[in-house]
Amino acid sequence: MTSLSTPWWQHGVVYQVYPRSFRDANGDGIGDLAGVLEKLDYLATILGVDAIWLSPFYPSPMADFGYDVSDYVGVDPIFGDLATFDALVAAAHARGLKIIVDYVPSHTSDRHAWFQTSRASRGNPYRDWYVWRDPRPDGSPPNNWAATFGGSAWEWDAPTGQYYLHSYLPEQPDLNWRNPAVRAAMADVLRFWLDRGVDGFRMDALGRIMKDPLLRDNPPNPETVGHFHKELGEYDRQLHLNDQRHPDIHRAIRELRAVLDLYEADGRPRLAIGEIHIYDLAELGSYYGGALDELHLPFNFGLLKLLWAARAIREHVDAYEAALPPGAWPNYVLGNHDEARIATRLGPENAPLAMLLLLTLRGTPTLYYGDELGMEDVPVPPERRQDPWGKRVPGLNLGRDPERAPMPWSPVPNAGFCPPGVEPWLPITSNLARVNVQSQLDDPRSRLTLTRRLLALRKSSPALSTGSYRSVDWPGASDACYLFLREAGDAAANDGGVGKRLLVALNFSDASQRVTLPDGLRARPLLSTRLDHDQSDILGTLDLRPAEGLVLALLEPAT
Ligand code: NOJ
Ligand code: CA
Repeated sequence: MTSLSTPWWQHGVVYQVYPRSFRDANGDGIGDLAGVLEKLDYLATILGVDAIWLSPFYPSPMADFGYDVSDYVGVDPIFGDLATFDALVAAAHARGLKIIVDYVPSHTSDRHAWFQTSRASRGNPYRDWYVWRDPRPDGSPPNNWAATFGGSAWEWDAPTGQYYLHSYLPEQPDLNWRNPAVRAAMADVLRFWLDRGVDGFRMDALGRIMKDPLLRDNPPNPETVGHFHKELGEYDRQLHLNDQRHPDIHRAIRELRAVLDLYEADGRPRLAIGEIHIYDLAELGSYYGGALDELHLPFNFGLLKLLWAARAIREHVDAYEAALPPGAWPNYVLGNHDEARIATRLGPENAPLAMLLLLTLRGTPTLYYGDELGMEDVPVPPERRQDPWGKRVPGLNLGRDPERAPMPWSPVPNAGFCPPGVEPWLPITSNLARVNVQSQLDDPRSRLTLTRRLLALRKSSPALSTGSYRSVDWPGASDACYLFLREAGDAAANDGGVGKRLLVALNFSDASQRVTLPDGLRARPLLSTRLDHDQSDILGTLDLRPAEGLVLALLEPAT
């Protein structure tokens, strides 16, 4: 079994629940916390994940569906109340599941009492909790910063004659993290949820909390957009050097981390995950902190953004492993509420390989709800569009509704997400007959079966959950394949038992590929993305079918 000497967040698997879309328990067409509570057995026992990350459920006008928080220490009535949240934590913990909540430090809702006071007059004590500036002499915004969600990052406030900064929507004014009172109040928010028993935080848009103190313009971006992220329009026409990730950010993150560390005196490790979109691996590594005293896991979005090819993925993993500071633990993300679903992005034929990769790499995996079923993006007709990003930047297809469709539980009207006859907040998948939990549960070839078996294998194998990683080059291996070894600490004294020394073989092409194993190496297939592999030992050559991934136990030492 998995070594318990590592903290849970290293050997565990994180599953993201987008509460609006998971399960609607009270029948208003919107998912809620009571719905998550109903599905804990699915998550803990049937699927077998270790932690749930809940996207925001706090009181919010829902301009950005909860990422615009109007009260950090409550529950929006749409989602339930604090008593339901407490019941959810207790029930999750009773099943061995950890609860990670979203923490939105970079901005509040414009309806938050802090901002309401801040905007009421220039002289009030909350004015400096946000970033207010005079216009330039011609009346234009103080600098050229662009908002991620389109337009200038500055909004004019006529009554007080100043602009305020918003990195996202105008309804999401940025907090001023250079103000110690803001930092203290936001540390209190962490304490509030830690006192209610949460096991960690996913910190939203964390890179935004420290900007250039002089608010200098961003320089223009000389490059056309690379493949790292979807094209964001005018936002991409500047280099975001001054509107985020000022070096002072590290001190601010250390302060947040110190709050979590104090709670660990009770022996329960707490987790700080940071959402910072960084594709330079050395810079990403810096967010663990010089003394591993910042984030436990700065999100690594490599798998979401890279070209789906053996060489590109292998180079990324190898470079990431090499760039990690000593003692830092890797992590990988396969999907989230901001990105096209993996089965849509790569095609359904490649999605099983992506899942096998995610669950066999060294590092904490984050799985997005529905991806365990092979769910695809669900098109949303214009009259039902919800995401403000899609509405504000027409023409670029930036709306995130398709990846936020209701979780399909069973092949009935409204998919068991909400009662039949109620309109769910977003449309149900048209692939419901195939893509739903109930139908896939008893199907030995379903995507759910593959995910469950991968999760079970990962849990039972020290090599997969905590072992070392090494990619291998074996002569004759095709460029279309990526091969790596996972080995548990005492694998050198391999006693022939399976699970201590594993080979993961991935064929990224749509043709069959043959891999020649080094002389004398005997391998036993444990699990294939096809779920129908031959289980007899392999000596000599290993054949991989198109887009097949295979986990094998190595029964003789590899070279
Ligand atoms: C990142 C979140 O994942 C996204 O959904 C949100 O819109 C922005 N941060 C702003 O909070
Ligand atoms: Ca509901």
